[in-house]
Amino acid sequence: MAESLTLRRPDDWHLHFRDGAIMRAVVPYTARQFARAIVMPNLSPPVTTSVLADAYHERILAAVPEVMEFTPLMTAYLTDETDADDMAAGFSDGVLTAAKLYPAGATTNSAQGVTDVANIMPVLERMAAIGMPLCVHGEVTSDDIDIFDREAVFIERVLAPLVEKLPELKVIFEHITTRQAVEFVESAGDRVGATITPQHLQINRNAILVGGIRPHMFCLPVAKREEHRLALRKAATSGSAKYFLGTDSAPHPRHAKESSCGCAGIFNAPHALESYVSVFEEEGALDKFEAFASENGPRFYGLPLNEGTITLEKVDVEVADEIDCGGETIVPFHAGETMRWRLPDAG
Ligand code: DOR
Ligand code: ZN
Repeated sequence: MAESLTLRRPDDWHLHFRDGAIMRAVVPYTARQFARAIVMPNLSPPVTTSVLADAYHERILAAVPEVMEFTPLMTAYLTDETDADDMAAGFSDGVLTAAKLYPAGATTNSAQGVTDVANIMPVLERMAAIGMPLCVHGEVTSDDIDIFDREAVFIERVLAPLVEKLPELKVIFEHITTRQAVEFVESAGDRVGATITPQHLQINRNAILVGGIRPHMFCLPVAKREEHRLALRKAATSGSAKYFLGTDSAPHPRHAKESSCGCAGIFNAPHALESYVSVFEEEGALDKFEAFASENGPRFYGLPLNEGTITLEKVDVEVADEIDCGGETIVPFHAGETMRWRLPDAG
């Protein structure tokens, strides 16, 4: 019998499904591994209201294969014009699980994001009052800030002052990529948590640039120096309840990545759990994996833990070079590599 690891069914606390044919093709990769996922609202046009989130929720549910049980948890995209009453109603009706702050221009489809956090202060105050979590893309967008410094500067200029001003607000500092982000999360109270992606645990910036430009390793926030990857690995495997799994799986067609202006985003959904578990194994922390994958997230959000378990087996699995997704070719994270763990299909 192969070595195996059984854990409570996990969730993905940060994910991009897109819409239409690509969405229908990528949903099963997530639903076979995760019971729930926080679905990002950066569609084109973005999911800015509870009505739009409800309709998107229905489209996702229709794409879940009958043999799988999966619940999409919806978010609304904050803009300078967001209506606090709509956020509050969406949250109390159970349509919205959180709202998402994209600084305008920070990443894919963020042009309609928030131009200054001061503009949404009434919305954030309302969210703090009702316990509605805020998901944050933590990068400043000013031209004068180096792209590798944008997360650290965001902490100083935006996040630290916000958390000080609204200590009751639950904030998820998403896809953290730096030592500074780990230090900030450690120093903040228990209303601040963070998600960490598999790619930021696995690669540093050399993976994007050494030996030629590798567009499939490019995502935002961009991977940083090795010291930062090591800080993230330490944080994720530390056992701290502040860190939880969020893949940021972000499918883009191969031609949109392999372009003179390639899109940011890594499609890691096909082997996300296998990728994470190998990090925990390498760090000698397999005993901490279940908390990171299945417990810390729901506890932070105030949601029930999942019933049921999954079992990963220590069996080699080859990752495809590319995957057809609704007529588009997408290159997955770890393309062409051999993973040492496998999640067998249920049943
Ligand atoms: O790399 C990224 N891709 N980062 C983001 O913040 C957005 C995402 C996307 O939607 O493609
Ligand atoms: Zn994302």
